[in-house]
Amino acid sequence: MKIGILGTGVVGNTIGSKLIESGHEVKMGSRTANNEKAAAWVNANGANASHGTFSDAAAFGEIIFNATKGEISIAALELSDEKNLNGKVLIDIANPLDFSNGFPPTLSVCNTNSLGEIIQKTFPQLKVVKALNTINCGLMLNPMGLKGKHDLFICGNDAEAKSKVTALLQSFGWKNIHDLGDITNARATEMLLPVWVRLYGKFHTAHFNFHIVK
Ligand SMILES: NC(=O)c1ccc[n+]([C@@H]2O[C@H](COP(=O)([O-])OP(=O)(O)OC[C@H]3O[C@@H](n4cnc5c(N)ncnc54)[C@H](OP(=O)(O)O)[C@@H]3O)[C@@H](O)[C@H]2O)c1
Repeated sequence: MKIGILGTGVVGNTIGSKLIESGHEVKMGSRTANNEKAAAWVNANGANASHGTFSDAAAFGEIIFNATKGEISIAALELSDEKNLNGKVLIDIANPLDFSNGFPPTLSVCNTNSLGEIIQKTFPQLKVVKALNTINCGLMLNPMGLKGKHDLFICGNDAEAKSKVTALLQSFGWKNIHDLGDITNARATEMLLPVWVRLYGKFHTAHFNFHIVK
């Protein structure tokens, strides 16, 4: 599948490489066409890897990942150009974390709104599926990296888009995927971050996940 990744940070790099390893074609997008981190990632990942602007990556992808800083995700999507986004599935990994007062960060939006919803409202033709934001990027497309059962949450308004995302995630070995409902449920998965960052502070590793027992 052709996949566009918005973001040249550790998340874009890590999931981009896993997608390439699995045979997908990936274009990584940035504010500039000649981003050094994106160029280095392409060099390390071979012929199915390419890079360009946010707009190039969005135009390329049948599915697009939002792996940008939450505070600028809307700006990055605006640079992607709505015409490249309309009708497509966006897997929104971003978290609205505010580090302006240090660690632990606070959420810049919560309770009655979420970044996932803001993206969906701003780009109504985009099929936003919030997923993967509650785990470290080393586990996102590598669930076997942890021993034992552990769980993932998705939500979004479009059932077909959620099926596509679920199938993609299952192809990487995810088993316990909980569909929480429409995109307003991004409030809940983003509000798991205050717990996640405290566990990170306690464990001194990001190599963990939540498991639901009924
Ligand atoms: N680290 C994890 O394991 C993890 C886990 C779960 C969720 N997340 C979430 O995943 C997202 C990505 O995290 P990350 O650490 O990989 O990347 P990041 O550093 O948060 O974001 C990198 C991207 O943001 C873009 N950017 C920065 N300022 C911008 C601006 N003013 N306008 C437009 N774009 C701008 C950069 O563009 P350029 O390429 O042009 O520099 C770059 O592509 C975050 O929302 C994070 O909360 C991370």
